[in-house]
Amino acid sequence: MKVLITGAAGFIGSHLLQYFGAQHTVLGLDNYDAFYPREVKNRNVRETGLADRVVEVDLLDLRALERTFQEFRPDLVLHIAARAGVRPSIQEPALYMRHNVEASTHVYECCQRFGVKSVVLASSSSVYGSRNHVPFREDEPVTSPQSPYAASKIACELIAGTYARLYGIKSAILRFFTVYGPRQRPDLAIASFSRRILAGQPIPVYGDGSTERDYTYISDIVDGVSKAAEWVVNAAEGHYDVFNLGESRMVSLSAMITALEKVLGRGAIRDYRELQPGDVPRTCADISKSRSVLGYAPRVDLEEGLVLYARWLEKEER
Ligand SMILES: NC(=O)c1ccc[n+]([C@@H]2O[C@H](COP(=O)([O-])OP(=O)(O)OC[C@H]3O[C@@H](n4cnc5c(N)ncnc54)[C@H](O)[C@@H]3O)[C@@H](O)[C@H]2O)c1
Repeated sequence: MKVLITGAAGFIGSHLLQYFGAQHTVLGLDNYDAFYPREVKNRNVRETGLADRVVEVDLLDLRALERTFQEFRPDLVLHIAARAGVRPSIQEPALYMRHNVEASTHVYECCQRFGVKSVVLASSSSVYGSRNHVPFREDEPVTSPQSPYAASKIACELIAGTYARLYGIKSAILRFFTVYGPRQRPDLAIASFSRRILAGQPIPVYGDGSTERDYTYISDIVDGVSKAAEWVVNAAEGHYDVFNLGESRMVSLSAMITALEKVLGRGAIRDYRELQPGDVPRTCADISKSRSVLGYAPRVDLEEGLVLYARWLEKEER
């Protein structure tokens, strides 16, 4: 099978490139955006051993994207590329709309024009907004986004449904819950806190440490995407569905920092700050649907995942 992976130089995309590249013909695509340094993305791609399978293309450049589809002729698209990050989307909302909504429309438009019938779309737990009851279920309405990023991801999900109804294009829409592990985006808490703790610098703690997240280790996400890919390829024409990919366990920010201190063998200097607009108090995935329909079965809990992350970081820093 020929698999096109967008966002292949990023954190999650590079892991998917590596995994799918071991069993399929893959092509990775990325525009190496300036959200974090290009050297980090170059390293991500280098670590996959598939640098020659990645092309630099901006999804906003429809002509270049059409050429890519024309030449590669994918059977399946893993659409992972996006401008990620909740807080920065409040500073640059229009940019998030372009790189997420317009870019995703281009991806689906090329699928329609070049006969691609199956798409796995990266969505986010952010679409659930601020909720008190947990866990979050896929059949709950998602109409109260707390940030332009979340709104853009809801729009991407709607585009997937639109192309299913118009052209029969099938989609597995995957809502990822706080993903971490080797190559994690440098702006995310575990990556940025680890580097600061090791450098003896204070870490910014927004709120009193009681916010809770469902942390998902990267290998569980890769496994979930792989199962979703199988599901979507075998689905009936025009079928699309939404699946949560999380661990279904909430960990408070304070508990995460304590666990990180333990694996790094260093104490953190906590710099408490006000909660930021866009932040939500908690996330937790109900994964019963992903378990029963996809056979998704996450294996790596936070304590084990942090050990694996710290081992990778130690090698990187050498
Ligand atoms: N990391 C998480 O915890 C998390 C949680 C929920 C959802 N997600 C979603 O998963 C996906 C991957 O996230 P990530 O953490 O790996 O982010 P990332 O920033 O590391 O990867 C995204 C990649 O997409 C590329 N990209 C952005 N705009 C593009 C464009 N117009 N054309 C081509 N490439 C473009 C970027 O250069 C980047 O390499 C995103 O869709 C994100 O919204 C991530």
